[in-house]
Amino acid sequence: MGKGIIQARDLVKRFGELTAVDGISFVVREGECLGFLGPNGAGKTTTIRMIYAISPLTAGELYVADYDIRHHPRKIKGMIGVVPQENNLDPDLTVLENLLVYARYFEIHKQEAVRRAFELLDFLELREKKDRLIEELSAGMKRRLIIARALIQRPRILILDEPTTGLDPQARHLIWQRLRSLKREGVTQILTTHYMEEATQLCDRVAIMDQGMILRLGSPQELVAAEVGEEVIELQVGEDEEARIKGFLEGSPFIWEQAGDTLYLYCSNGREVLASLARYPHLRLVHRPATLEDLFLKLTGRRLRE
Ligand SMILES: Nc1ncnc2c1ncn2[C@@H]1O[C@H](COP(=O)(O)OP(=O)(O)OP(=O)(O)O)[C@@H](O)[C@H]1O
Ligand SMILES: [Mg+2]
Repeated sequence: MGKGIIQARDLVKRFGELTAVDGISFVVREGECLGFLGPNGAGKTTTIRMIYAISPLTAGELYVADYDIRHHPRKIKGMIGVVPQENNLDPDLTVLENLLVYARYFEIHKQEAVRRAFELLDFLELREKKDRLIEELSAGMKRRLIIARALIQRPRILILDEPTTGLDPQARHLIWQRLRSLKREGVTQILTTHYMEEATQLCDRVAIMDQGMILRLGSPQELVAAEVGEEVIELQVGEDEEARIKGFLEGSPFIWEQAGDTLYLYCSNGREVLASLARYPHLRLVHRPATLEDLFLKLTGRRLRE
């Protein structure tokens, strides 16, 4: 397995009084996709900004491809393609020009830059838009162009801060396909997301973050199976029934959690549980497989997106 392309030990980032990242350690393996999953303010962006060397560490150690970030930030920046959380394309330039100008930062020869730009426009299905201004693009196209831009320097590592937030499902799926294809080519990926489906679709492993800390790190399937079980039954209970149902659950062997007006029951024998709930014919029930969202709720008592 090796020791990993990125090694982080006891990373801390403080902004004045606030500790945004509170002593986290992790390893990113070469070729994997690692996701940071957590709610607003968990410290995801702060963590990855430290990795791509634009935000200095308050404390801790960070190595990228064996380079110490304190001594070799430029070297590390040259290895990492970045898709930031905010779209920061140049509005005065066309789609193609945005790519070419960016290539210049990396001192890529003009001819080579043009060749790569067209290749990337094809890869992200943007060739038809090459002469458009940024304001003429849809949200999904802008996101794809930023991914193309991040790839122009052929990075070993691609860091994506919420690659698909706010996009419709179709736009999201196109980006997911492209990220999977880059992974097959061996590009190591680190992404942040609020979407447990995105994490499940793309990530080999996820770090579940909350309040600057990593609560769990592992493959989505293993984490969910180990901590939540296989199945979840959601019960929507009205105020009049709540006390009665909770009384029943407290006397039962079931593991459960409440968030708002919904009770979540974790089990591996859903059918039997449903049978024992048959005495409450008016309950609204959903029976489904357990997800990372359930794991998060179990760990923190909150949903990922409140
Ligand atoms: N430059 C900064 N100055 C001061 N505080 C900051 C700065 N950047 C982030 N923070 C604070 O650090 C904490 C973590 O923020 P961060 O942006 O890393 O969260 P996040 O997990 O990326 O959240 P989101 O899902 O909303 O993007 C927050 O409380 C935020 O207000
Ligand atoms: Mg963020």
